[in-house]
Amino acid sequence: MKIKCILACLIISLLVQNVSAQVFNILPYPNKLETTTKGQFDLNTTIEIASAITDPMVTPTIQVLKENLNQYRKTSSNRKTKFEIYLDNSITNKEGYTLSIASNKIILKGNNAIGIFYGVQTFLQLAEQFKKTKLIPAVFIEDAPALSYRGLMLDVSRHFFPIDFVKKLVDIMAMQKMNNLHMHLTDDQGWRIEIKKYPKLTEVGGYRNGTIIGKFPGDGNTNQRYGGFYTQAELKDLVRYAATKFINIVPEIEMPGHASAAIAAYPALSTFESEKKVQETWGVFEDVFSPTEYTFNFLQDVLDEVMAIFPSPVIHIGGDECPKEAWKRSAFCQLLMKEKGIKDEHALQSYFIQRIEKYINSKGRQIIGWDEILEGGLAPNAKVMSWRGEAGGIEAAKQHHDVIMTPIDYCYFNFYQSTNPKDSIAWGGFLPLSKVYNYNPMPKGLNELDATYIKGIQANLWTEYVTNVKLAEYMLFPRSIAFAEVAWTKQKPGFDHFVKRLVPYLSQLKANDIHYSTQLFDIWMALILH
Ligand code: ACM
Repeated sequence: MKIKCILACLIISLLVQNVSAQVFNILPYPNKLETTTKGQFDLNTTIEIASAITDPMVTPTIQVLKENLNQYRKTSSNRKTKFEIYLDNSITNKEGYTLSIASNKIILKGNNAIGIFYGVQTFLQLAEQFKKTKLIPAVFIEDAPALSYRGLMLDVSRHFFPIDFVKKLVDIMAMQKMNNLHMHLTDDQGWRIEIKKYPKLTEVGGYRNGTIIGKFPGDGNTNQRYGGFYTQAELKDLVRYAATKFINIVPEIEMPGHASAAIAAYPALSTFESEKKVQETWGVFEDVFSPTEYTFNFLQDVLDEVMAIFPSPVIHIGGDECPKEAWKRSAFCQLLMKEKGIKDEHALQSYFIQRIEKYINSKGRQIIGWDEILEGGLAPNAKVMSWRGEAGGIEAAKQHHDVIMTPIDYCYFNFYQSTNPKDSIAWGGFLPLSKVYNYNPMPKGLNELDATYIKGIQANLWTEYVTNVKLAEYMLFPRSIAFAEVAWTKQKPGFDHFVKRLVPYLSQLKANDIHYSTQLFDIWMALILH
């Protein structure tokens, strides 16, 4: 068995070595890459960075480039080479760039600071790949993303993750040219954002008295207080940090369901009769926000503080999995429906969301919600995240609302990624790396115009069973690397090609102290050993 293992590892490493000589290890892969020019650029030369760009958003990118070039230049050769950087508005995509590497000169052009940033990310991956010889083969790259919204969601409610971990995620996302980090900040099991006007949201709603052990209530409860929250100062700092890497943070404040933590802090927010508590088990709870003036005023106050922290053009208002039983039983809700001519509780949810939308629109922002916000009528300007499959996204696109596709079967990173029984507990479902890679975000059945409303895709890490940062990394990587290529590359070169680039890239993840899943090797090992 031991000999077989050694053999397997040997074959894998041979494959990897063989591959790095043939393929440019760029992740996500560029849209056009040509190797018609001969020669190599020598990193071990005196490289002058030439840029007349005055945009201050470009300065940190050039600084990072400088530091990296100094690091690669171990012994000094006096031969002079140039790295020229320009803005070029003939590059039509706002995030687009071209990178030309020739024997004595590198030329990077971007539509604006973002394109320059992405071009530098690509260059740094090449410099890393060829760092042993210090010779980068001549290449011409013309690149721009397939989709404008390339997102990742982290659920920080079910389990709380330190702000430094969130920043680390931002770092890796930027390397992968991802541009939106969605933070699921509130849910039944914890409220994670400081709201100065309502301190009990974090004092009470930020902590639960225990957490279910395992998957089923019979398995027991830790009976240990668990929680935490981000201060506004921490979140503002995160927003600033992410902006330097061209990543927008989308905050989510869940309503009208998944509201137990807020209700535990301020019980007047609900009409429900039973005990109020921050939940210790997972699932959907009947105690939801009541559509009273008190609730709307509360939510508007909360959103004022949220919008002051997050400049995001979209504010996520949740909208999913809101049971209607409490509203059905509530005399207040029934009277309100009668007075306003609201025909059923689905329409009452629509009324709720539309009121919130009006408020958020009045502050110059748009709302985005999970696809349940289609039920009872979509709010006029709402954007939709389609999670229960593609149908909600298709419907919203046909109604000419912007859509982010995040169908559960391809985008839920809380699903298992391997059949290895040693893998830790996960939500259910099976989403191996290859399935993520082969996801096609453009659903069938949309005409050309309707298809333009599919603005992007997002992968979600729900954290019911993701108890710590190492496990979060394990669930996210390398699946999120495959996902980034789905979002960026118009004509993906295929899973085998991706794997050839990914294997050497794993050492970069390791260098960044990322605890990634080795599911890929499990499969190779199984193929080799059987
Ligand atoms: C969701 O998974 N409930 C959006």
